[in-house]
Amino acid sequence: MSGRIPDSFIEELLARTDIVELIERRVEMKRAGAEFQARCPFHEEKTPSFTVSPRKQFYHCFGCGAHGSAIGFLMQYEGLEFLDAVEELAHNAGLQVPRTETGRPQPSLGLYSVLEAAAEFYKEQLPQHPQAIEYLKSRGLDGEICRDFGIGFAPPGWDSLRTALGTDSEQLKVLADAGLLSEGKTKTYDKFRNRIMFPIHDRRGRVIGFGGRALGEDDGPKYLNSPETELFHKGRELYGLYLARQRVGRLDTIIVVEGYTDVVALAQAGLRNAVATLGTATTTDQAELLFRAAETVVFCFDGDEAGRKAAWRALQATLPKLKEGLQAQFLFLPEGEDPDSLVRAQGVEAFSILLADAAPLSDFLFDHLMAQVDMTSIDGRAKLVTLARPLLDTIPEGVFREMLIERLETLARHRLPGPAPVRPGRGRPSRPKPTQARTPLRLALAHLVQNPGLVELTGEVDEIRDCDLPGVDIFMNLVDFCKKRPNMSTAQLLELLHEHPAQSHLHKLAVWQLPGDPERQAMEFRDAVTGIRLQWTEALLARMPKIVEQSKAERERFLELQQQHSMLKRNLRGTET
Ligand code: UTP
Ligand code: MN
Repeated sequence: MSGRIPDSFIEELLARTDIVELIERRVEMKRAGAEFQARCPFHEEKTPSFTVSPRKQFYHCFGCGAHGSAIGFLMQYEGLEFLDAVEELAHNAGLQVPRTETGRPQPSLGLYSVLEAAAEFYKEQLPQHPQAIEYLKSRGLDGEICRDFGIGFAPPGWDSLRTALGTDSEQLKVLADAGLLSEGKTKTYDKFRNRIMFPIHDRRGRVIGFGGRALGEDDGPKYLNSPETELFHKGRELYGLYLARQRVGRLDTIIVVEGYTDVVALAQAGLRNAVATLGTATTTDQAELLFRAAETVVFCFDGDEAGRKAAWRALQATLPKLKEGLQAQFLFLPEGEDPDSLVRAQGVEAFSILLADAAPLSDFLFDHLMAQVDMTSIDGRAKLVTLARPLLDTIPEGVFREMLIERLETLARHRLPGPAPVRPGRGRPSRPKPTQARTPLRLALAHLVQNPGLVELTGEVDEIRDCDLPGVDIFMNLVDFCKKRPNMSTAQLLELLHEHPAQSHLHKLAVWQLPGDPERQAMEFRDAVTGIRLQWTEALLARMPKIVEQSKAERERFLELQQQHSMLKRNLRGTET
């Protein structure tokens, strides 16, 4: 991903960023020795298992396994994408993100500013158009909520915005690129006219598009949305997400509704945690965003045919993102109602009761499928398996998928064919995976990843440069890499190597628990390197011809290797205490 941003920049950015400071602004932390501790912001817990290391510039939760650099933290905590997280950090550090030529085209700053200016323009228009204010009032929205959501009004004329902002041909082009103009036969005119304007923000709070609602019945389509532009991709945004996260911090639950007005009406009623898909089916990208923002996602749809269809699409989009500790629920409203009409007619308590009663994803899934088959016949139950299996296969491996498969087995009343899934120990979430054996190679790698400065101690490492034992090439690779960059932190190392083939392996080693004392670290590291050399010597010895068949040269080599072998063994024993 960062191939588009020079590595040297990522390195500098992380050098200029203090992860402790970054996290401290969002999570309450306590000092514990050389590190900081907190209750993990990424899962529920009573005792703190989240630690931040200033030296490594790295965070790690022993409970849920979350870990990473400052960039990773921003991505995980704020739900940002890589490039956005980099931009945010660069902004904080007063740096400008350079881009290589192949990079994502730098969205012209003009686009953002013209959208911002348009949002301002629409807001200023509101007080001057009583019919717009009347309309908002008739929908039960007060001035404060409208301000919070930046709601404005596009005047009825053909070119109010065009005249106000399209001061020269360059500006006109930017307005068009931002999706704010429509192409006429002879000239361009305002796309949004005589509409209530809902600005749509990206995850960093910048305006990237609009939704516009017609005031009356006969003003064209009820809602008009910005077209897809360089900045605006409907399937990747959620209306209201930025505001919801701004106001409430980390959310427990997020409610997904269908319409702009549903989001605003729920906020007016005191539920500030609603977002809307932008008039399209829920995508997996959106599911990802939702789960980055909250543990529980409640999809709230109309009870009618269209609503059920939309819910099913949402279910399919959600399955690949269902990790441990996350859940999706479905709430179907009585036909003809939407969240807006419901809270207004029956109050927020009534809506909250319905919410609390939302069906778990698994219920919706099986109910929906069972409605399509005859559960009283064997054929019908077999059909259920055929329908469910491909869906369940899209869920990441883990306890949740296990449970659904078990439930499917029970429903179908026969064991499922196919490879038996790996069963984690009963009654415990599978999270603490069996720890990897601490071979010398893994230990050496773990130490180097966690403390790249140790590379100074590799000593006669060149002896294993040509070693063909599996994984040693990775180690040598890392040694060379660390030698070139003294004083690198764990975070920098991992970010710079994010495209390394062994990247996920290195991440695992980065969170191994190692001694905190530098002397012990140095000793363990030296021993690990000696251990690798020992293994290599043993491998070479094993490859020698039998003693009786050795040539003179081979005999010399054999003795040399044997001497080296006992020396290495002595070295290892010497440090054992
Ligand atoms: P609804 O028709 O349910 O809108 O469409 P709503 O939010 O209840 O509208 P009100 O209450 O009558 O004002 C739900 C969503 O579908 C998209 C919009 O995003 C809308 O919020 N939509 C709907 C369109 O994009 N265009 C349309 O013409 C209608
Ligand atoms: Mn509505």
